[in-house]
Amino acid sequence: MQICKTVDEFRVARRDLAGAGSVGLVPTMGYLHEGHLSLVRASVEQNDFTAASLFVNPAQFNNPQDLELYPRDEARDMALFEESGVDLVLMPSPDAMYPPGFQTYVEVEKIAQGLEGEHRLGHFKGVATVVLKLFNITQPNRAYFGQKDAQQVAVIRQMARDLNLPIEIVVCPILREADGLAMSSRNARLSEAQRAAAPSVYRALQAAKSQYGAGDRHPDKLRAAMQQILDAEPLAQVNYISAADADSLQELEAPSEGPILLSLAVFFGDVRLIDNLILE
Ligand code: PAJ
Repeated sequence: MQICKTVDEFRVARRDLAGAGSVGLVPTMGYLHEGHLSLVRASVEQNDFTAASLFVNPAQFNNPQDLELYPRDEARDMALFEESGVDLVLMPSPDAMYPPGFQTYVEVEKIAQGLEGEHRLGHFKGVATVVLKLFNITQPNRAYFGQKDAQQVAVIRQMARDLNLPIEIVVCPILREADGLAMSSRNARLSEAQRAAAPSVYRALQAAKSQYGAGDRHPDKLRAAMQQILDAEPLAQVNYISAADADSLQELEAPSEGPILLSLAVFFGDVRLIDNLILE
C-alpha cells in the first residue's frame, strides 16, 4: 500500500495504474470503523485497484468545535486500510487541498437544501467541493459511499449527473452495532451514559417502520412515532425528524405511494448523530 501525502505524489502513482485495470475510490474522514471498511471491501471486490482518501475536510464543518474535536488516529487507519486491501491512499494536508487563494466551490441546489443542509449551513457545498476534487485527483471508475449519509449520496449522485462525471456511484448499506446504533466515528465521543442512550435513534426509526407496516402511513404519524421514542430518552435532544420523498427529499405532507426516507439528527450532549431508513 502506498500512502501519498501530496496531490502530485498521488497523481504519479495513479498514472502508473492507467490501463492496468479499474480503480475504486473510498473517500473517508478517517477514524475508521466497520462501516468504512465495508465500503473498502466492496471496492476491492469490484475493482482491480482500490484507492482510499483520508481527509478531515474543514470546508464541510459548519461548527468549528466539531472539526476540532473530530476523532483522529492516522496510524490505526493506515493499518486498517492496508489489512482491508487498499492499494493507494491519499492523505493530503488541509493546505494541499485548500491552498491560499482557493476560491472555487461546487454548489448543488435543491436536493442539498433541506434536512442536513438546513441544519448544517454550507455543509454540502463543502462535501460536493471536496468530493469533486477527490474525483479529479484520483480519477476512479467507481466511487463508494454509505447509505448512512443518505442526503450526501443524493447530493453526489446529482452532482455526478449534472456535471457529467464518468464515475459509477456505488451505495453500500448502513452497518450497525449489535444494539442498532449506526456505526459512526463520532460515536467515540459519546460518554458511557450517552452511548447507552444512543440506540434510541434506531429504535425511533423502527417504531415508525412498524407503524407504517401496520398501515398507519400518514407522514405526521411517522414523525410522531419517532418523536415519541426520543421524548422518552432524557439524554436525547432532537435536532430534526423527517419523513420525506426518498427521491426528491422533499418533506411529505400527505401519505405517499413512493419510497419514503425516514431520517433524523439527534444530539447527545454536543455529539450530533444521524441515521435513516427507507420505507419501500
Ligand atoms: P465519513 O463520515 O468518514 O464517511 C465515509 C464514508 O463512510 C461515507 O460514504 C459514509 O456514508 C460511510 N459510512 C459512515 N458510517 C457508515 C456506516 N455505519 N455504514 C456504512 N457506511 C458508513 O462522509 C464523509 O466521511 C465525508 O463527507 C466525505 C464523503 C469523505 C467527504 O469529505
